[in-house]
Amino acid sequence: MCGIIGINSNKPVTGVILNSLKKLEYRGYDSAGVATLVNGIINETKCEGRVENLENIIFKNKNDGSLGIGHVRWATHGQPSEVNAHPHSSEKVSVVHNGIIENSTLLKKHLIRAGHVFKSQTDTEVITHLITEYLKNNDLKTSILKMLKRLHGSFALGIIFKDFPDIIVGARRGSPLAVGYGPNENYLGSDSYALKSMTNKVSYLDDGEFCFIKKKEVQFFNSDGNKINKQVLEVSSDDQSYDKGNFKHFMAKEIHEQPNTIKSCLKEYIDKINNEINIINFPWNNKEIKNIKLIGCGTAYHSCLMAKYWIEQLTDLEVETDIASEFRYRKNKFKNSQLYVFVSQSGETADTYAALDLCKKNKMKTCSIVNVVESSIARDSDYVLPIHCGPEVGVASTKAFMGQLLVLYLLTLKLSFLHDKISKENYGLKISSLLELPKLIENTLKIERDIQEASKDFSKAKGSMFLGRGYSFPIALEGALKLKELAYVHAEGYPAGEMKHGPLALIENGMPVVVIAPRDKFYNKTISNMQEVISRGGKVLLISNKSTDEISSENLWKKIQVETISDELFPFLITIPLQLLAYYAANALGHDIDKPRNLAKSVTVE
Ligand code: AGP
Ligand code: GLU
Repeated sequence: MCGIIGINSNKPVTGVILNSLKKLEYRGYDSAGVATLVNGIINETKCEGRVENLENIIFKNKNDGSLGIGHVRWATHGQPSEVNAHPHSSEKVSVVHNGIIENSTLLKKHLIRAGHVFKSQTDTEVITHLITEYLKNNDLKTSILKMLKRLHGSFALGIIFKDFPDIIVGARRGSPLAVGYGPNENYLGSDSYALKSMTNKVSYLDDGEFCFIKKKEVQFFNSDGNKINKQVLEVSSDDQSYDKGNFKHFMAKEIHEQPNTIKSCLKEYIDKINNEINIINFPWNNKEIKNIKLIGCGTAYHSCLMAKYWIEQLTDLEVETDIASEFRYRKNKFKNSQLYVFVSQSGETADTYAALDLCKKNKMKTCSIVNVVESSIARDSDYVLPIHCGPEVGVASTKAFMGQLLVLYLLTLKLSFLHDKISKENYGLKISSLLELPKLIENTLKIERDIQEASKDFSKAKGSMFLGRGYSFPIALEGALKLKELAYVHAEGYPAGEMKHGPLALIENGMPVVVIAPRDKFYNKTISNMQEVISRGGKVLLISNKSTDEISSENLWKKIQVETISDELFPFLITIPLQLLAYYAANALGHDIDKPRNLAKSVTVE
């Protein structure tokens, strides 16, 4: 995962590197470091923890250069500590790395035999020693080529050199890397977001490529070392979205932004005059599509699961969902009649990207649903549907989940219409109901206080369960994931009907359980499952929708009723209380809500 930044300028760079690293902390935040070239010597400073700690250390020992690299780490090999923090430097080179070097153990053995002494437990340090070794007898380009040939695994690298004081080397295999262009200075970044405050002109390295970033020019090379030209793209700049406004956390802001993000997304996709969905110009013939495969990780996978229910309900298409990290290694039966849909907020998730790559290699039709339109997944898929929700900073995905649901639902409706499975009138009615969503989400957010109250019991619990049937099941899974990642409370999401097949044994006196029971066709069944939980001592928080029939149940702990909407759209509203529940449970525990422990926003390692 990790964040990489590199700057080659004629002005001091450490302050700018530190500011960029703060922006990159969403990618990793267990340790941080910077290396600059000062009077021809590599000057490395690193520490455990946040960039703020690094800033304090650097402030005390000011030593600046005009060329440097920085890194925020998400440890894969070796615990988070100062010695394992990047950069990893020898006297001659300094390296920052995102990814995993899979053959590092073997390489380390060879290098130790050749007399190299290792300081850290990281896989990255082998890169430092390999280049140092090759530079003894080779020029820079040959050394880089030889070093890259020895590495297995995935990486994005930033490297500076004592003896080449006007060059930062960038190299990529598997992990994303961008180059930015400024006036008399050029940059390297693990994504364009890191570079946005400095430039909106970027190029992306493709797999196997590397570059030499000089102050006045950037040279790009392919994996054989031949010079190549790269397209310079202009990226959008939307810096104001990276401000918490009056909210204590980005997550709170992002939850409350949802009425607006849904409104903006609807504006992008709905043609109100013709009551039509603007998902057009598919690069394939729609009639050829008979099956859909939805692929994602974590929250994005839950969106896929949700879409499965919608697609089954509204079309005749066969639909399957897959977790990207499983899909990429299975013996898949690729079908020409299948559309492969990849869902990813960041568009950089390594497993999802690898699944896309596999489909591309098998010449399949690919479509991606992303938030970051400049991302690798967006760039490499045949067709892109952006979710238009603006940058999401909180590591726990909220508004992006909602945006994914919306775009998946729009795609489903469109396919249903194109495949003649829905009448023009019904299609129009469903589009009109969608337009009511922003207001209904806004009203649902008013339950915040009640949820805050209920969340106290979840924050103290040793475990909890989230139950739902039909459309509510994927949302139960997402609610449980949110509580796990933010409050670090064990939470299981289950189909309510599965409880008696095992999980019911977990229910004990006082265990908080969320039961999602909208007044849909499953209502009575779910309420019966809820009774089974209550009878065994479970403390049930029932989430349903407003209705004239009272919910009467003895020993029900709490109930929350959201606005009423069609069954198909209920998942959008039910998501809100579950996001708030996790947020307030974590807040009561004093957790770092926007940067939960052990996690990172963009998961660019396997
Ligand atoms: C969401 O709260 C999680 N942090 C995580 O599950 C995330 O959804 C997953 O890593 C996929 O990320 P992506 O959408 O950027 O591909
Ligand atoms: N594998 C490297 C390490 O553990 C890089 C991790 C990262 O991408 O932050 O240090």
